[in-house]
Amino acid sequence: MKLKFFLLGIVISLASVCKADGGLWIPSLIKRLKIEDMHKAGLKLSAEEIYSINQKSLKDAVMGISYGTNPASFSSTASFISETGLVITNHHCAISALHKLSTSEHNYLKNGFYAESMDKELYAKGLKLSRVIRIEDVTKKLSAGLTGLSERDSINRFNSRAKKIVDKEITGKNYYAKIRSYFGGAQYLMEVYEVYHDVRVVAAPPIELARFGGEEDNWQWPRHSADFAILRVYADKENKSIEHSKENSPYKPVNFLKVSKKGYKQADYAMILGFPGTTKQYVTSRAMKQVAEIKNHYSVMIRGAKLDVINKNRESNEDLWLKYADVMAKSSNVYLRDKAEKEAIERFNLVEAKAKQEKEYLIKLKSDKKLFAKYGNLIDSIANCVDQLDKLEKLNTFVMEAGISGAPITSFCGKFDMLNALARRKAKDKRVKYEQARLREEIRKFYDQYDINVEKQIVAALAELYDKNIDGKYYKSSIFNLVKEKADGDYNKFADYIFENSFFSDKWKLRKFVDEYTHDKISLLQNDPVFKLSISYYLINRDQIMRQRMKIRKKYGKFHKQYIHSLSELANGDLLASDANRSLRVSYGNILPLKTTNETYSYYTNLEELLVKHTKQPKLYSLPETFVKSIKEMSTKKRENTHICFISNVHTTGGNSGSAVLDSKGRLIGLNFDRASYGVISDYVYIPEAARQISVDVRYIKFILEDYLKADNLVKEIW
Ligand code: ARG
Ligand code: ASP
Repeated sequence: MKLKFFLLGIVISLASVCKADGGLWIPSLIKRLKIEDMHKAGLKLSAEEIYSINQKSLKDAVMGISYGTNPASFSSTASFISETGLVITNHHCAISALHKLSTSEHNYLKNGFYAESMDKELYAKGLKLSRVIRIEDVTKKLSAGLTGLSERDSINRFNSRAKKIVDKEITGKNYYAKIRSYFGGAQYLMEVYEVYHDVRVVAAPPIELARFGGEEDNWQWPRHSADFAILRVYADKENKSIEHSKENSPYKPVNFLKVSKKGYKQADYAMILGFPGTTKQYVTSRAMKQVAEIKNHYSVMIRGAKLDVINKNRESNEDLWLKYADVMAKSSNVYLRDKAEKEAIERFNLVEAKAKQEKEYLIKLKSDKKLFAKYGNLIDSIANCVDQLDKLEKLNTFVMEAGISGAPITSFCGKFDMLNALARRKAKDKRVKYEQARLREEIRKFYDQYDINVEKQIVAALAELYDKNIDGKYYKSSIFNLVKEKADGDYNKFADYIFENSFFSDKWKLRKFVDEYTHDKISLLQNDPVFKLSISYYLINRDQIMRQRMKIRKKYGKFHKQYIHSLSELANGDLLASDANRSLRVSYGNILPLKTTNETYSYYTNLEELLVKHTKQPKLYSLPETFVKSIKEMSTKKRENTHICFISNVHTTGGNSGSAVLDSKGRLIGLNFDRASYGVISDYVYIPEAARQISVDVRYIKFILEDYLKADNLVKEIW
């Protein structure tokens, strides 16, 4: 079942109900479902060479990166590239490790890093890598005999079975397992992992090269970033990487990727193995409308206001440039994506396209009485839930974006709420002392990192948006009354007033409050206006939004799940791609130029273009001086022949960053790190003509290692 739509003169094929165009495929199933199509696209490998549990396969070279306590909670992807445990990923996937290891004396972010010998490789505490050992379908084991039980009993039974299955696989710190749901719960697959705990940083370029063009170029094509970092896994004598130890030696991986020396041409096959986070390919037209008009619309509005304040302040102040680099990059990344999504929904008329698709769906359903009786109301039921959710989603976006995760000081204030709880239960001295020590540390970190004047301006801008867009006292703190009472409706004055009357505006006043804290002083905190405003966002969320939102979302989830079931039933064996859920996936396509409404862009970029960008706008496109000097010494022709990045229509999403991009024989040709904004709507609708993932060329990585980092030994080890 393939529907084609002619929109704005561009033929787009909606992947949501169609097969094959795009899709993040489950590697253990490609043999049965996908391999023929992959061969048609140009693949020269067998399915077993990609995924096998009997022989080494490409999946053994691929790992998810995690930073928290859960080794299956992946934020991005990495791959083995040598028999001596070398690993390649993006710079932006390893940035928090690089950040933690950096000091003002050794600023690895600014200057880059290369360990000339193995003993100089730096342990990246907290960074874990997990490799999939096998994927098992546990749907039957989990779901057998649950029909007839009450909802609660069935959930309990299901959960205890899942725990048992997973617990059997988890041994020590070395092995981990995770069951994830596919197609809204129609299928459950377990991934069993080997986990690597001793991971060290080997090399990284300076951030000016890795993130060339910064936020200006983020989500953009053409692009010229060297977004890579090289790590190494270490293991004990039994080749197990259970914990960091000086005695450990390089891990010997089951498999590693061979690096291509050849590069690629237009239309060549490309394939990506990685851990994509979330996609929502099956949302209905009504839900799509909500994404554009509520989620993206308000997120862009609020983040835009926050970024304006930060950028204005950063322009004139080098110190603030550094202090707000992280807040700005994170906020901007989502801002730019949400903006691009909203634009694409409009550009490609996606709400109408989905609605048309739903009409066809209903016509098909009607031709089968049984199916119609079962599923005929779903589209309406979903629309009904989404109608009810509109208001709550808007509130949630405001409370989260303008409140809780808006100004850094708001979440900082949230950290003091524990004192409230301690005062309420009259906690003992020992507990209070512990809390005081924790807060002293939080204070030290916060005031080192942020600037109270910038914070005040962010609070003012976001409070104004909140106050003007959210109606009804029920959703607002009484503190907003001060806007009229004390500030003549001026939100900057309002912020001046609350900060003047708050001990949060002064590190030492706050320290004094914490040092001298006893329970009888809690009202000082409770009446502090900056605290009061901050905490009100948390309370509104907890008491007035969260529960109702969850209740309706649960109902929505149930209908949505049935809708996906109905689509797969209607597809009559035609396969649908399951939405991304942080499990290992394979996607494939071809290296192609990008044609937008107005322009055609080449499928690759080169060093000459980078130099032109830098020369025209040296501040925006800043580079290390020595790098500029050395590339200026090259001939124009040589610079033109030095490829930097390339694009393809391989389907990817957030979490795919750091993933190896492979050629038709499974050799590494690049590293995925981004998508071009024009087709970024691929999380909802994959449009093959518009969707382009962006990779850094492995030959440019080699160039940077050799020419800039002088990492000759490393180059020898890899190439
Ligand atoms: N947009 C990429 C992703 O979503 C991040 C690219 C990092 N580079 C940058 N200039 N911010 O994570
Ligand atoms: N940059 C994203 C990531 O970090 C990739 C994307 O969204 O295309 O995973």
